Amino acid sequence: MNEEQRPIGVVGVGYVGLVTGVCLAHLGHRVVCLDVDEARIEALRRGTVPIYEPGLEKLVDDNAARLSFTTSHDELLAQCRVLFVAVDTPPTPSGDADLSRVRRVVDEIAHRGGRRLLVMKSTVPVGTGAHIMADLEGDGVDGITYVSNPEFLREGAAIEDFLSPDRIVIGSFSDEAGDEVEALYRGVDAPVVRTSVPTAEMIKYASNAFLATKISFVNEIANVCEEVGADVRTVAEGMGLDHRIGAHFLHAGIGFGGSCFPKDVQALKQLAGNSGYHFQLLTAVIEVNHLQKRRVIGKLKHHLGNLRGARIALLGLTFKPHTDDLREAASIVLAARLRGEGATVTAHDPMLSPGSHELFPGVDLFAEPLEAVRDADALVVVTEWPEFLRLDWAAVKEAMRRPVVIDGRNVLDPDALREAGFTYEGVGVAGLPEAVRSGSS
Ligand code: UDX
Repeated sequence: MNEEQRPIGVVGVGYVGLVTGVCLAHLGHRVVCLDVDEARIEALRRGTVPIYEPGLEKLVDDNAARLSFTTSHDELLAQCRVLFVAVDTPPTPSGDADLSRVRRVVDEIAHRGGRRLLVMKSTVPVGTGAHIMADLEGDGVDGITYVSNPEFLREGAAIEDFLSPDRIVIGSFSDEAGDEVEALYRGVDAPVVRTSVPTAEMIKYASNAFLATKISFVNEIANVCEEVGADVRTVAEGMGLDHRIGAHFLHAGIGFGGSCFPKDVQALKQLAGNSGYHFQLLTAVIEVNHLQKRRVIGKLKHHLGNLRGARIALLGLTFKPHTDDLREAASIVLAARLRGEGATVTAHDPMLSPGSHELFPGVDLFAEPLEAVRDADALVVVTEWPEFLRLDWAAVKEAMRRPVVIDGRNVLDPDALREAGFTYEGVGVAGLPEAVRSGSS
């Protein structure tokens, strides 16, 4: 079997790994995906995709002939020389990235010997590539080359982000290895950034940290807008027309969540700290994000007074729409704080079954939004699922005890809701009664 025909290996079929594997197959490569989770591999062998991602099930099906799944490192390494590593790097309690899974994969590969090209897709702290290579050299292991190839895909748009990326970043210790990885993306039309391994690793962190900073910035602007009677939606529009600023990620709301931004911002801040540099900006980005989730409580108290005994409905629990992911979702903090205030909390999310959920102790989840808002004193839009824009607001008003709407994602029409008799409050949206704006209500 010549090199060209050898399949590519992907280790770790979580979010990034599965999308990477399937998209590489879609580009024409044969791909062997490995995961230690037997149930996940069994499901994939049956054609069942264990994560929710629009279009992924079909893409797995369309490329089934080029895809195989295994739990055996022997089977994988007997076939594959090029190995994408896409295992989780969750945060440790100190906020550093936990590299134990990455190290385990490297060990599995190293002790089986042979020539290998490791392509790192996992988000790893700057310097990881150099450390791994130094350790291998120290252990007398040669024949392994390393390339950093960070991923920038968003949940809910992952396939599009992989196949039509803004850029492909390739950091390598040798041009030859970088060339080989670049060739794997044949068919993807995007600028390629070829650089050193540490620089490629930093591009990933800096990109996520900057997007998070942009969100915290516009959230603070929104908070000031509330005090001065301006409208952040139009402020963001006016800002975004400046090509140096750009309109993306200027959507004010109740804070960013997910498996990436909170973790990566913290890890970059930690990385800087470990190198003796106090990253002040990121400290503020994290703090603003924490406070932003809690400002909703203040808004509810403005309209309802003491929340003890109040009934609050949360619309949307996932960290953003088009995903079933609850990691670092603003809803988790909000529900817990409301319960702490003595409120009864109900909720609806299109991705979650009715009943209870371990991440939301004491919260009743309903199958329908109208059920969740029944007898509520207020509702909060926490995740901007499109179906909330199409709600029958007359029926919602009928069902609620008090028609108070806190739009945590600025996706509803304030004028239409106010005309329908609701008290509406967004995030930095103008038109608040003077009394509320000045906090004297
Ligand atoms: C992010 C990056 O976008 C992606 O490039 C990287 O590879 C992984 O991390 P993801 O976590 O899927 O992707 O979510 P994203 O769509 O970026 O949203 C992150 C959070 O920011 C969500 O909670 C979202 O609600 C919030 N957000 C996003 C805002 O509050 N305002 C915005 O304008 C954009």
